[in-house]
Amino acid sequence: MSAQSSTQDTSTVPRAPWRDQFVEHVSKMKSPEFVLSTLGSDPTGRFKVIPRARTCIYRGMWGAMTPNDRNPAKKNPAAFESDCPTLTTDVRMEKVGEIFRPAVGTATDEDIHGCGGGGPVEALWWIKEEGIMTQWRLRGDAWIVAPNIDDKDNNKSEKTKEQIGKWTRVVDEKEVENWSWERELTAHYGNLAPGMRGSFKNPPPGKPANENSKEAEKVGEGTEDLQDSEGRKNFRVVVIRPYSVESIDLSDPSKARRQHYTYDEENSKWEHETLWP
Ligand SMILES: Cc1cc2nc3c(=O)[nH]c(=O)nc-3n(C[C@H](O)[C@H](O)[C@H](O)COP(=O)(O)O)c2cc1C
Repeated sequence: MSAQSSTQDTSTVPRAPWRDQFVEHVSKMKSPEFVLSTLGSDPTGRFKVIPRARTCIYRGMWGAMTPNDRNPAKKNPAAFESDCPTLTTDVRMEKVGEIFRPAVGTATDEDIHGCGGGGPVEALWWIKEEGIMTQWRLRGDAWIVAPNIDDKDNNKSEKTKEQIGKWTRVVDEKEVENWSWERELTAHYGNLAPGMRGSFKNPPPGKPANENSKEAEKVGEGTEDLQDSEGRKNFRVVVIRPYSVESIDLSDPSKARRQHYTYDEENSKWEHETLWP
């Protein structure tokens, strides 16, 4: 991998002190659902910006996606780890535009088509399984990995790599050159069930449904093809870079405390405080 395309070269953020516990907790969830909030524009015009929230599925940390034996895609070696949760989405959904900067919720179609982003997000997990009873709240920015991720002449693709790279560490030096961004993107697509993969070629999400159209027949159609061009052009991986993290363990209300972690960018270190719940 070239200096720009390798995630090792830009790493500046030390391993997050909350990472292992967070990963362990989410790994226990029967269905790793979380709520992802972004900022959007208000169609009623009452406010300049409004909060938007929706349910999403956590797909593992960037560089270490949730294992799935039925994933037919070639996987990258475990060369990197990061502190960044991922989700998959469809570029035609509103959250993608809302993640793009500088204009919250007003990015043009052209802006959002490729890699980029950097807009603010908050992600929230309420984990009830096996007595964990912990809420995790991660605040940060989000970056979109699109099919043009390996386009070296595209500034936004290079910037996306650089920004995600800052939060990514090498765990196996000898595998770094065998790791590829494009392969990671395809492996995320392969990690979805065929029915879910097919949803990326559904008619445009959020647009009026014409029940008598040919498009209506496409809904629910799956695909086994990892390079299905119609679906792949809409498929995106979203990478969240948390800089403020809070967990609250409610398993014993009398001992509940809020653990608060903040990333101090100037000094490249995580601060930790214990707060009243
Ligand atoms: C259980 C569940 C899981 C979902 N997972 C995702 C997901 O991982 N990614 C996603 O983009 N949308 C997911 N959705 C759909 C979103 O909640 C939302 O309806 C859709 O993304 C459109 O939102 P937007 O237009 O605000 O982006 C999920 C919905 C449910 C109910």
